[in-house]
Amino acid sequence: MAQNNFVEVGKVNEIPDGKMKHVEVDGKEVLVANVDGKFYAISDRCGHMNALLSMGNLTGNTVTCPFHGSKFDVVTGKKLKNPCFLIN
Ligand code: FES
Repeated sequence: MAQNNFVEVGKVNEIPDGKMKHVEVDGKEVLVANVDGKFYAISDRCGHMNALLSMGNLTGNTVTCPFHGSKFDVVTGKKLKNPCFLIN
């Protein structure tokens, strides 16, 4: 339940340091990341082709999309790197 703009999405010990979790809040898909004991929430959908970012990799505060490698800062939600395509 929403209270003071906070929504409980789980217990702290369910998301260890350096890990992410996919949750849904009011029909919105959200990625919750634990970075050095602090929790951040951003959209769990990549703006490129809609991949679940929580299925990617988290390094520090940077999540890498599992599809084409876009990178996002989980602290700010900003895109850090565009998709990458290999051409043979
Ligand atoms: S779907 Fe995320 S980079 Fe393409």
